Parts: sequence; C-alpha cells; structure tokens
Amino acid sequence: MIALLAQGFALLILAASVWLLKFIIAPPYPVWGLVIVQGVLAAFLSCRMGLPCWWRLIQFGLPVGLYIGLHFELNPFWALGIFLLLWLVFFNAIKERVPLYLTNSTTRMALKKLIKRRKDIRFLDLGCGLGGNVVFMGQQVNVLRSDGVETAPIPYLLSKLFTLFRGGHVYPMDMWKAKLEYYDVVYAFLSPDPMPKLWTKVLSELPQDAIFISNSFAVPEVEPSEVWELSDKRKTKLYIYNMHDFKKD
Ligand SMILES: C[S@@+](CC[C@H](N)C(=O)[O-])C[C@H]1O[C@@H](n2cnc3c(N)ncnc32)[C@H](O)[C@@H]1O
Repeated sequence: MIALLAQGFALLILAASVWLLKFIIAPPYPVWGLVIVQGVLAAFLSCRMGLPCWWRLIQFGLPVGLYIGLHFELNPFWALGIFLLLWLVFFNAIKERVPLYLTNSTTRMALKKLIKRRKDIRFLDLGCGLGGNVVFMGQQVNVLRSDGVETAPIPYLLSKLFTLFRGGHVYPMDMWKAKLEYYDVVYAFLSPDPMPKLWTKVLSELPQDAIFISNSFAVPEVEPSEVWELSDKRKTKLYIYNMHDFKKD
C-alpha cells in the first residue's frame, strides 16, 4: 500500500510539474522522460515514506517496466508469468512476512560446531528454503535424522529434489503444524515477525534437552542462553536457546 501511495503521490507531483512547465517550455514532452521522472520521484518518496530503501529499485523499475512493456507491445502474459514465478518462490512473504534467503556456509559450519557434543540428533529446519541445511545436517555423523518443512511451492519442489539425491527429508508442511516434540535441534531463519508466536510453540513442544537456534532474529524479551557472532560478511548472529534454561522440572 505504501508503494502504491508513493506512486500516486509521485504522479500528482509529476502532473503539477508538467502543468507548471508548460509556462516555460511548450509541450509535448517525451513520454520516456516523464516515465523516468515518475520512477525517480516514486523511488525517492518510498524511502521517505518509511519503506526499506531497497524498494527504490522496484519503485523505479515499475513505471519504466510498464512503459517498456507498452511501447514494445510485449505480451502481458510475460508480466503475469514473472509475477506467478515470484509468488511461488516468495509465497510466505505476505502471510508470514518471511521471504526466501539462505543460510551461508559459515553459519552451517557454526551449526556443525554447535552440535558436535551431541549424539543421535534429530534436526529440523523450520522453513527449509532450498533444503541446503537439511542436506548438510543429514551428512553429519552424529545426526540421526535431518528434516525440513516448507510451504513455498518452488522452494519445496527444489528442496525435495535436492534431498532426494543428497539425503534428508523435506515435507510440504506449515511450520506451525510441525511436531517439535520429536526433535532435539530445531533451527529457524525467518524474520522478526513470527518469533513471539514461534517461541510459544517452541516452549510448549520442545523437550528439555533440546536446543532452538534462530539465525539473526532473537526472540523478543527472552534472554538467549548464548549468542554466537560469526565472522562472515554480514556478521551473522545465532541466538541459541537451551531449553533446559527455560523449562524447569
Ligand atoms: C529465510 S528462508 C530460510 C531458508 C532456509 N531455512 C535457510 O536457512 O537457508 C525462510 C523460509 O521459511 C519458509 N516459511 C515461512 N513461513 C513458513 C511456514 N509457515 N511454514 C513453512 N515454511 C515457511 C519460507 O518460504 C522460506 O523459504
């Protein structure tokens, strides 16, 4: 909605400027020029109106893309197709406010280190994306079973394919329906949004000797048992919750 409003405001400013400009330079003005000004204005306003600044690229690209599509009479099914593709990949961005981004190799090595003293581990990746963590953990000698759940259709299909060849199990399941009782290491790389609700689930379902690890997003108002800051470029933080610190007998 903010993005749409920014485009609307930009159009109003552009219309007013064109109306004033006609007193200085006689129209007509090149449409491509107006489209570029629309994009620049919308991009500028988006940031000012509180959208994350990476939206600038999208806000600039929208009117320019529309103009190119109309000018070259591109089949609109291209736009629909690209939209559908993005929707099938970033399926959980709207409802759960969790897009797709992937755990890097430094973080995977840290996970390996984190579990090295445990035996017969049952690992679960909540929202497993392309299944990279499930495969990686499934290859560790002390991991008995490595599972992931994913609801975004394209990531699910890719992760299913990946795990079929490289090991591990992926299910087309909503993470809110996953039974955490079964696992002793649960990993999540989501967003700030689901963390409070997820913590309630983790607290009620995870056994006392289990650990919950959240990549980058801490549970609000809960002091983690440990925080590991990694040496990768983004200085990834792993928030580690040893359930025995939170579930007393
Ligand atoms: C940031 S990605 C992390 C992917 C993977 N765990 C990794 O670390 O590389 C989060 C994933 O969670 C998935 N997701 C979000 N909400 C979900 C839900 N309710 N049930 C299952 N998967 C979900 C998204 O589709 C996305 O693929």
